[in-house]
Amino acid sequence: MRYQIAPLFCRPWTLLGITPKLIESHYENNYGGAFTRLNAISEELAALDPATTPPHVVRRLKQDEAAALNSLVLHEIYFASLGGDGRAVGEVMANALARDFGSIDRWRSEFAALANSLDGGSGWVLLSWLPRAGRLVNHTISDGSQAIAGAITVLALDMYEHAYHLDFGANSVSYVATFMRNIDWSAVQGRYEDALEAKPPRPLEQKQFADVPSITVEEVQAMVDSGTPVQIIDTRPRHSSSRSPDMMEAAVWRDPDRVEEWMGELSKTEPVVAFCVYGFHVGCIAVRALRKAGFDARYMAGGHFAWKAIKGPVKLFESTTPS
Ligand SMILES: [Fe+2]
Repeated sequence: MRYQIAPLFCRPWTLLGITPKLIESHYENNYGGAFTRLNAISEELAALDPATTPPHVVRRLKQDEAAALNSLVLHEIYFASLGGDGRAVGEVMANALARDFGSIDRWRSEFAALANSLDGGSGWVLLSWLPRAGRLVNHTISDGSQAIAGAITVLALDMYEHAYHLDFGANSVSYVATFMRNIDWSAVQGRYEDALEAKPPRPLEQKQFADVPSITVEEVQAMVDSGTPVQIIDTRPRHSSSRSPDMMEAAVWRDPDRVEEWMGELSKTEPVVAFCVYGFHVGCIAVRALRKAGFDARYMAGGHFAWKAIKGPVKLFESTTPS
């Protein structure tokens, strides 16, 4: 397939402190260069047989393709980030920046600091929406830093020398300040609103246990840390302790096959959290039985290994059962 070129988004004669000559050269030579390279690489990739081509050749072409694609996409966002007064941040965007960075000024100083850190180097400084985290982040793409998978960029600053040398010489700090004074916030907000349409990765869904409420390991940790009364039961099958000899520090182990026998020792006035190895069937079935008997019970999503993954405190496995 061939990639299509995009027209220049900003009106060069309206920019303050950036000349049309610089924008024209940037668009024609650097954006146009990425476009030409990308289509040439795509043709080369389409023409080869991956099964018989040396793997290092495929890898180099794919790396070149990724670099050219980033250049194409980010130049388009860069040109579309210019043309405003840099100050009139719309309400939606202002609220989002305040939510994720503390304030617009805090966002501005972090973004500018990141840009100035590339002084003498090269790369992109980006403001992107992360559906996975439900927040905006500032980040760079340069030789020493990678793109963030799944990030949707809404504002881009080109810190390669070709982006400013004609007008600013080596004075990249002045270029960064000038860029900030030309940001088109209404365009940024439009892209942010579009980005919000992207859904985060689908959460794990256990349809057969839709009636059983869960709790996250972070929530359980917060309860333990704050001293909130909670009865935590490790209901992993007995044999699983031979594979992993530790257990959650605040938990007691009870045999999941004998729920009816040990549930009598629990209090009905304090919440119960139960879990198994990964948070699938065994813990859910135990919690369902406890809820049926009138306990305020929930299963801990992700089970023993999610607790270990957040570095929750553990102790040696104890299989003591009540006398
Ligand atoms: Fe550029």
